Amino acid sequence: MARILITSAIPYINGIKHLGNLVGSQLPADLFARYMRARGHEVMFICATDEHGTPAELAAAKAGKPVAEYCAEMHAVQKGLSDGFGLSFDHFGRSSSERNHELTQHFAGKLWENGYIEEVTERQVYSQADGRFLPDRYIEGTCPNCGYEKARGDQCENCTKQLDPTDLINPRSAISGSTDLEVRETKHLYLRQSLLKDRLEAWIDSKTDWPVLTTSIARKWLHDGDGLRDRGITRDLDWGVPVRRGGEPWPGMEGKVFYVWFDAPIEYIAATAEWADAHGLGEPAWRRWWRTDEGADDVRYVQFMGKDNVPFHTLSFPATIMGSGEPWKLVDYIKSFNYLNYDGGQFSTSQGRGVFMDDALDLLPADYWRWWLLRNVPENADAEFTWEHFQATVNKDLADVLGNLASRVTKFCRSRFGEAVPEGGTTGAFEAALIARLDKRVRAYEDHMEAMEIRKAAAELRALWAEGNEFLQEAAPWAAFKEDPARAAATIRLAFNLIRFYAVISRPFIPDASARLMAALRCEDWTWPDDVNRALTVLPAGHAFEVPEVLFRKITDDEREAWRARFAGGRG
Ligand code: MF3
Ligand code: ZN
Repeated sequence: MARILITSAIPYINGIKHLGNLVGSQLPADLFARYMRARGHEVMFICATDEHGTPAELAAAKAGKPVAEYCAEMHAVQKGLSDGFGLSFDHFGRSSSERNHELTQHFAGKLWENGYIEEVTERQVYSQADGRFLPDRYIEGTCPNCGYEKARGDQCENCTKQLDPTDLINPRSAISGSTDLEVRETKHLYLRQSLLKDRLEAWIDSKTDWPVLTTSIARKWLHDGDGLRDRGITRDLDWGVPVRRGGEPWPGMEGKVFYVWFDAPIEYIAATAEWADAHGLGEPAWRRWWRTDEGADDVRYVQFMGKDNVPFHTLSFPATIMGSGEPWKLVDYIKSFNYLNYDGGQFSTSQGRGVFMDDALDLLPADYWRWWLLRNVPENADAEFTWEHFQATVNKDLADVLGNLASRVTKFCRSRFGEAVPEGGTTGAFEAALIARLDKRVRAYEDHMEAMEIRKAAAELRALWAEGNEFLQEAAPWAAFKEDPARAAATIRLAFNLIRFYAVISRPFIPDASARLMAALRCEDWTWPDDVNRALTVLPAGHAFEVPEVLFRKITDDEREAWRARFAGGRG
């Protein structure tokens, strides 16, 4: 049994996430966490809300609420939705937690002691009209890299380049639109990540098994002249982690907070401490996941994130950890994703374009979405959600293949043999051949899951379901029943066991459907089919069952068109 630490990029607090956000980190992380638990490993699966910075302030102002109140409310909303999607976090924390304040200040103090932080007098944009320094995000202008006109002062949404506000062409205040901006002097802390370039490069070079998407972005940033430029890690904001060290205010930094991207990844650690607090456990309980001197040397740490998050996780956060000089766990594997597009364009939070997590659960249960999203996860290229494809996938894979198998077998058995797994008959070469195929496929499925090749895993799972359907079609127990009821009984007995086998192996993808199948089978044995032959004898003759409610229903053409129309306009 291994110990596996899994983190998903922590979603911004400002509003409900769309399906593109969900499939870009939290959902695949959940798939992996569930799979690893199913295989008997000890898993710690962590996520949280990313609550600081200007997006939170702006959203709270828009909602007319104090920012702390807004964040508490939105955290509860996001928590409810992640539960609704079956995201099995061990803890869903908050980057505004006391734990994160302490840890962020702790890291800053260590970085300072070790010479990785310097105080820099900076020239910063001050807005006369707004009467304040403008944080990066409050400044908009044209991207010097790609010419996009609505680039923000911290990053261009269009080309993902990280920016400084002073890089922008034609800058204006995002609060008031004012162009009456001037540059004034103010002091900030800078993280001297450039000093760690060689260590970071050697570390990334050692990760020969990482996905190309991850390493190519990391290398680009490493070698692109200013990718590792020393960056300000403090901001002139009220909301955030106050800049302190050693439990005291940091001289000259009064009224400033740490930059959201400095404290957010530290929340991975803090959220694990929050988990221990929530369970009344002591310090060792969480430190054994994070401190290599306290047990974490045998932890495998895997991070999931969208590609725009890769630079922070391959360079800045590791720089924080390395620079602390303390034995904190560095990530072992980074699985990153491309973007999911929506029906010929992009999902967009600001424009309310696409399907959001709350909308999705209004339409259909989570498993329908989980299956489509994971099967089409933007793994090696961007992917696109269309209503036609969603309808076709749900109707074929879930309703026609898996759902149909469960319903046909249980209904046929009830009507011919009664509500228990039938006795009599024996299986032969035909069944042995099926089992051999299943065995081969389930081993391939395991390999893909282990390697986080999610699309391949989904395709293999679907092929496993299809094997069962084809077997049933050919064995045709409804026809055999007349001549040879014992043979039909043997087929059905095997088919019941196939349903259980599918419930177990499909659980990481469609946990609710799996649970419903197992409930109908009155089975609680979730043992992984290490031995397929044995797995297909778990339900013996005489074992009582119920016919399950429709497992997956079909999406009609009318629904598809109604949904397309409903989501065409954006959420406003
Ligand atoms: N909130 C960021 C986003 O949605 C992700 C932060 S991940 C962390 O892009 F590492 F900083 F925590
Ligand atoms: Zn750009």
